[in-house]
Amino acid sequence: MTVAYASGKVILFGEHAVVYGRPAIAVPVTQVRAQAVVEGAAKGRGIAIVAQDLGQTYLLDQTPPDDPLRQIVVLTLQRLGVGLAHDLTITISSTIPIARGLGSGAAISTAIVRALSKYFDKELSPRAISDLVYEVEKIHHGTPSGIDNTVIAYEVPIYFVKSQTCEALRVKRPFIIIIADTGVQSPTKVAVAEVRRAWEREPSRYDRLFDQMGEVAIRARRAIEEGTIEEMGHLMNENHRLLRLIGVSSPELEDLVRAAREAGALGAKLSGAGRGGNMIALVSEETEKPVVRALREAGAKHLIVTEVK
Ligand code: MEV
Repeated sequence: MTVAYASGKVILFGEHAVVYGRPAIAVPVTQVRAQAVVEGAAKGRGIAIVAQDLGQTYLLDQTPPDDPLRQIVVLTLQRLGVGLAHDLTITISSTIPIARGLGSGAAISTAIVRALSKYFDKELSPRAISDLVYEVEKIHHGTPSGIDNTVIAYEVPIYFVKSQTCEALRVKRPFIIIIADTGVQSPTKVAVAEVRRAWEREPSRYDRLFDQMGEVAIRARRAIEEGTIEEMGHLMNENHRLLRLIGVSSPELEDLVRAAREAGALGAKLSGAGRGGNMIALVSEETEKPVVRALREAGAKHLIVTEVK
C-alpha cells in the first residue's frame, strides 16, 4: 500500500489577472490536504478509483474519457511508462473544502500522481507533476493560468507568470494569514468564464485593471522579500478594490473583509475566483485573536490560521 498527500493553496495576490499573463503570488496551505492511497486489487479487476468522501467507486474502464479522475490516472500511468493494464484500487480523500479557492481539485490530482509514482517506484519532478495536473485543470477550469498546480506541486510560496516564470519566493519575515470561508461554493470555472465575457465586452477597461493588479503583485513580491508587512497589508486592500471592480466580490465576501479590517487586520481581500469561497486577512500576533473573533461573528463558516515562511 502506498500513501501520498498534497496540500491546499491560497492566492495572496493577482488572481484572475494571472489568467491574462499578469504576475501572481500563491502559497501552500498545509493545514488542509488531499490523500491518495494505491494498493493492489484482485487479478483481472482493473483500476478502481474510490472517492471516499463521496462514497463512490468508479471503474476506470467504465468512466467517461473526460472525467478528471480518470484523466489524471491515465496520463500519469502513460507518463510513468507502465501502461494501463493493472489491478489497482486508488482511494482518495481530502480535507480541503471544494470550490472555495483552496485548490482542492489540483491537490487531489497531485496526490494521485505522487501516489502512483511512488507505487511504481518511478520518481517525477515537481515540474513533471505540475504539468500532468495542469492537463486535468483544463477540464476542471477551462482556461486555467496554471498557478494552482504549480504551487501545489512545488509546495513553496511562488511568484508566477503564466507560461513564463515560476520562482520560489524568499519570505524575509514570516507572516500570519487568516483564511475565512464564506460557506458559499463558487466553482472557479464559472467565475473565470464570466470575467472572460466581461473582458471581451470591455477589453481596454479590463486590461487596465489587470495591469494594475499585476503592478500590485510586483510590489507585493518586493514587500514579501523585504519583510515590509504593513506594505503587504495596503497592497492586499488595493488588490481587493481592483477585484471588486472586475465584479468578483460578493456580499458575504464584503462582510468578512470589512469585519477583518475593523478588527485590526493589516489588510484583507477575497482570494481565488471570488463570488464566494474564501477571503484572507493579514494579521499580527496581537490582532490574530480579535480578527478571528470578528470573522466568526461576521459569519465565517471555517477558519484556517497559517504562517507563511
Ligand atoms: C484560481 O485559484 C485562480 C484564478 O486566477 C484562476 C486561475 O488562475 O486559473 C481565478
